[in-house]
Amino acid sequence: MVKAIDKIRHDKTIPGIDEVRDETDKDGLRIAIDLKDDAKPEAILAYLMQKTALQTNYSANMMAIVDGHPRSMDLLTYCDCYIQHQLDVITRRSHFRYQKDEARLSIVNGLIKAASIINEVIAVIRASKDKADSKVNLSAKYGFTEDQAEAIVMAKVAAFISGKRLAHSLSVAHLAYAIAQRNKFTYPDKAYIAGLLHDLGKHLSEEQSRDIVLENDPDYKDYPSWCLHQFTGAYLAEKEFGITDETILDAIRYHCTGKAHMPPLTKVIYSADKIDPTRGYDSRKMIDACLKNYYVGFLKVLKENEAFLKKEGELESTPLSDECRDLYLGGGK
Ligand SMILES: [Fe+2]
Repeated sequence: MVKAIDKIRHDKTIPGIDEVRDETDKDGLRIAIDLKDDAKPEAILAYLMQKTALQTNYSANMMAIVDGHPRSMDLLTYCDCYIQHQLDVITRRSHFRYQKDEARLSIVNGLIKAASIINEVIAVIRASKDKADSKVNLSAKYGFTEDQAEAIVMAKVAAFISGKRLAHSLSVAHLAYAIAQRNKFTYPDKAYIAGLLHDLGKHLSEEQSRDIVLENDPDYKDYPSWCLHQFTGAYLAEKEFGITDETILDAIRYHCTGKAHMPPLTKVIYSADKIDPTRGYDSRKMIDACLKNYYVGFLKVLKENEAFLKKEGELESTPLSDECRDLYLGGGK
């Protein structure tokens, strides 16, 4: 627009304009037009309004639904209504997220408490008739809320995973579910199941683990002991828990090492396992990143995990973890 006005000054299509300056800065929009002494300001203004974009007409249908009723309104009211609507949406969304996070906090607190008395908790579950009875007994004896008791009562999982590992698995399940839901995964329940079962293979001895891997995943038979449980976990999930969904099995099978070209759910479980709040370090920033965008969060987790292991001198190399880091930290998808 400044250019167009300056062209008018240069061509003298209307006389009297001395200089045009764009004085727009961070405080706002401003165009300064200096006039010559003998200029006629009203005539110049009218001319510029007509010939430049200083004044433009648009036709718009100013109809909107307000409080459930269609209303025709002027521009100011229209803007006010829109701002009010945005405020309502943000308030409702924040309130909803706050409630979800509160519920999750309560569950994690329940899990931490359960982990500290896990032997008593498992004894109560085993002495109860069924799941509902377990929940009632846990709430009566230790004051768990219904949601906390529901999270704790995973009798079959508890038989495979015990102690702190159970609290970790339940917490990974909740976190993975929250990440999947916030990122609008079609089936967030799969994230819960994969998170809950990801460490199933950890209770096996190295000898048992190697036998299972040799028989079912011979390509990985020479992998180091720290990651064998991912392969045995996928095996047990299928054999003992009847999981046949390939996305869940893949997420369990590579949650420790990662790999190249990980499906979304595998990335979520990989991240949730590393940043589970019951691990005892401050992982809130990475949790927030994953909740906002699971892929960006995954890259952050991968990078920070690599830096941490390097610092501790524990960065072990396997073909799977190497190809995972090479691809994702090298900028691939
Ligand atoms: Fe884990």
